[in-house]
Amino acid sequence: MKEVKILGIETSCDETAAAIVQNGRHILANIVNSQIAIHQEFGGVVPEIASRKHIENISLVVDAAFKQAGLAYDEIDAVAITNAPGLVGALLVGLSFAKGFAYALDKPLIAVNHLHGHIYANFLAHDDIEFPAVCLIVSGGHTSILYMPAAGEYEVLGSTIDDAAGEAFDKVARFLGLGYPGGPAIQKAAAEGQAGKYVLPRVFLNRQDLDFSFSGLKTAAMNQWKKNDMDPAMVNDLAAEFQQTLAEILTVKTLRAAMLKDARTVLLAGGVAANDALRILMKNEGEAKGLKVYYPPLSLCTDNAAMIAGSAYFQYNKGDFASLDLNAYASLSSL
Ligand code: KG4
Ligand code: ZN
Repeated sequence: MKEVKILGIETSCDETAAAIVQNGRHILANIVNSQIAIHQEFGGVVPEIASRKHIENISLVVDAAFKQAGLAYDEIDAVAITNAPGLVGALLVGLSFAKGFAYALDKPLIAVNHLHGHIYANFLAHDDIEFPAVCLIVSGGHTSILYMPAAGEYEVLGSTIDDAAGEAFDKVARFLGLGYPGGPAIQKAAAEGQAGKYVLPRVFLNRQDLDFSFSGLKTAAMNQWKKNDMDPAMVNDLAAEFQQTLAEILTVKTLRAAMLKDARTVLLAGGVAANDALRILMKNEGEAKGLKVYYPPLSLCTDNAAMIAGSAYFQYNKGDFASLDLNAYASLSSL
């Protein structure tokens, strides 16, 4: 069997990433240059700065990936690039680079949906995932529950009607003065606090649908904070309650979807899937219901290019190649 080596490039937000993955399974190189330290000063990602930093870093990151894999440029079989969804200016840097690289080497170009990449991170890490599955995708920009009857097939069962879960983490962390990115900051504060001292609403759990709403939860946390005169002594407890509330809402609705669809498996994907409280609750509650629960290792939860190169392997096998007039899109109408 021919060994297929795909170079993946990812620049959709604030990580400049390149990876080389063989046959959709073996990570030969995985390089991530994070701009977090640069954006921290502004309390969130500044799109213009993100694009400029991608331009500075992209060729360095790609070269580092080839060096780590011990390969020459022409030893790869295809170039995979995230072209949606994300910050358009940031996406365009990776896209332009990938097109030039693929053209110069005369290799096919593969367009990868960033969210498919996040979901695929599970398959990079585990080779025993069974279908049908239900997948909770939770990132800075998306929160949805998907039904996957088979690999690569997705049906959206429910989504947030306002903020994404990661966005809610980031906003609450900001007003609590915990900094950016909010998810890891809240997790750290929560470890020092106690959930239940301040009670937040389990929004939408009384509804039978599979949608979420996190904007009201964020406001409820802010009201608690203001009601207590923004007392620094309550930060850790409020962070713990906020994290616990989110983990419960996400877990209950995802497992409800899994039971409804008679799924065997639950997958977690996206940056918020790095959250300890969510991973533990989903695993314990899911296994109690007879489900197998998977999540990627921490390094593959947040943005990386290994998930893009891995996901592209299946498109490569189908001959699903993009032309050089491929465009970048901030959002997609379907998954
Ligand atoms: O998937 P990702 O790296 O980028 C997007 O595609 O959006 O997700 C970033 C999001 C941020 O909102 C960040 O706060 C959140 O993932 N995040 C976490 C954790 N690590 C990252 N949220 C909760 N707990 C974490 N440990
Ligand atoms: Zn992402």
